[in-house]
Amino acid sequence: MRLPSILTLLGLCSYALAGVTVQKPGLAVPAKYKSNRDAAEKIFVTSYNAYKEFAFGHDELLPISKSFEDDLGGWGASIVDAMSTMLVMGLDDLFNEALNFSSQIDFNTIPAGGTVSVFETTIRFVGGLLSSYELSGEQHPILVQKAKQVADKLAFSYVGDNVINFGHIDFSDNTPDIAVTNIAEAGTLSLEWFTLSKFTGNATYGDLTSKAVEHIANLATPLPGLAPQLIDPTSGQFADAYITWGGGSDSYFEYLLKYARLTNTNNNIFIDTWKTAVDSSIKNLLKTSTVGNHAYLADRDDQGLIRHIGSHLACFLAGNWLLGGHLLKNQTIINIALELNDGCWNTYAGTATGIGPEDFAFISSDGNFTGGDAITADQLAFYNQHGYYITSSDYIQRPEVLESNFYAWRTTGDTKYLDRAAAAIASFNKFLPPPDGVAFACLNDVNDPAAGFIDLMESFWFAEVLKYLYLTFDDPGHISLDDYVFNTECHPLKAPPALNSYAGSGTLIPQKPFTPHPVGGPRPAISPI
Ligand SMILES: *[C@@H]1O[C@H](CO)[C@@H](O)[C@H](O)[C@H]1NC(C)=O
Ligand SMILES: *[C@@H]1O[C@H](CO)[C@@H](O)[C@H](O)[C@H]1NC(C)=O
Ligand SMILES: *[C@@H]1O[C@H](CO)[C@@H](O)[C@H](O)[C@H]1NC(C)=O
Ligand SMILES: *[C@@H]1O[C@H](CO)[C@@H](O)[C@H](O)[C@H]1NC(C)=O
Repeated sequence: MRLPSILTLLGLCSYALAGVTVQKPGLAVPAKYKSNRDAAEKIFVTSYNAYKEFAFGHDELLPISKSFEDDLGGWGASIVDAMSTMLVMGLDDLFNEALNFSSQIDFNTIPAGGTVSVFETTIRFVGGLLSSYELSGEQHPILVQKAKQVADKLAFSYVGDNVINFGHIDFSDNTPDIAVTNIAEAGTLSLEWFTLSKFTGNATYGDLTSKAVEHIANLATPLPGLAPQLIDPTSGQFADAYITWGGGSDSYFEYLLKYARLTNTNNNIFIDTWKTAVDSSIKNLLKTSTVGNHAYLADRDDQGLIRHIGSHLACFLAGNWLLGGHLLKNQTIINIALELNDGCWNTYAGTATGIGPEDFAFISSDGNFTGGDAITADQLAFYNQHGYYITSSDYIQRPEVLESNFYAWRTTGDTKYLDRAAAAIASFNKFLPPPDGVAFACLNDVNDPAAGFIDLMESFWFAEVLKYLYLTFDDPGHISLDDYVFNTECHPLKAPPALNSYAGSGTLIPQKPFTPHPVGGPRPAISPI
């Protein structure tokens, strides 16, 4: 017999200790796709130069009127949101200029209107500053100081003994808007504020935000693991029963998983709730279209009715389920995630521009109820051809379909995902530059290029769309999904080595009796990302 060599033993040993991997090992981008990386970088540079010329220091460029808008505090959101992408792309001159600008932002200046969104400011500013701090080798502590300066203002959204924050803060007097919060506004702060605690040594930031998530996860829900959209910070109780993975709820679910991965916490509530939410969604919300057999995830409304609708925003979930399926080593979740990813891509493939709409609907074997207008003859004709129909036709530079496509590429290595990303780049270059304007605008109707433009270039065009596209065609070892967790604005945060398993307690959370505590008044507007 042969004795195993010491190297074999070491190999076995490191195998036994190796953490779970998310990316397909040995992945490489074939040479014929490599020019797409430069194409994504070129769109970024063109867009940023136009922003510099006509809007520098303001939140967003208006590419048709060659002007600007300040709706995110007026502190230069596009600059801070673009910084981590500059570092990923190696655009050092642009980064140094943006660093100089960011170092001088005074978050104590009162924004126009006074009030800012705690969620939007966290994911763009706190996330963008801290990610840039890490990606630039922790050489610029001013970035942490700036993140702390703005977070110290946002922290006033936690009032008295409330576990849940209010959604908006008036920077002139640090008082919140007293209104219900949605679970995305309460549950999408934990990655950024945990990271801020790590770099400042003040545990309060991480504690406030993770305790809010734990509180939500421990409440009784209409379906196991699936929190409804609205929560009242004053009572700490849910204020409706509407279940969706779309806007207003989306990144609460996203961060349950990502917080577990970023912190490697041994508190199982985060991973158990995520796993239960996915399980309930597969059992209750997963539908296929009667035409084309495409997979979609439906909503469930306050009356418990299934709404056969989908959205660009909700399309992030395929990527999130791919991440979680690998962390939990659950092939069922991975397979369903890939089907849902195909369903989302199908909304791009079917339109005249090759770009997907904001909202869509479908018909499945259990019906066609959408909670909205009945299907029109034109929509039915489109549905019969494509297996979905458009209910909001605009494209406002959202990333989610290409985000999930990026996860699909990095986890499977199937080059069809590279073809899809390349097709999106071609569509953006063809349809988004406004003939009488600069850079790239938003579209009124993805199925009718003649319907014209929306005069806006979003800050997440820089942070998300162009970074996901660039990384899709970059060396897969760069910003690997095994080394980084992306915040919901696509700012990469450095993760610790992965654990062997993210199985949590191994059990699902049981159903508890649920009664919402409705508050009066209209539903609050859903945050734009
Ligand atoms: C740094 O920012 C200041 C003020 O915003 C500006 O005057 C200066 O030109 C900038 N320097 C560089 C190198 O960009
Ligand atoms: C930690 O941060 C919180 C939130 O801004 C603040 O209230 C608290 O004073 C800070 N603690 C210390 C020790 O600086
Ligand atoms: C994988 O996930 C599916 C869907 O939630 C679930 O039914 C199944 O039990 C899971 N498998 C394991 C081994 O946990
Ligand atoms: C569902 O389909 C039926 C029959 O095609 C139609 O009459 C009805 O308006 C549709 N409902 C919705 C909500 O689209």
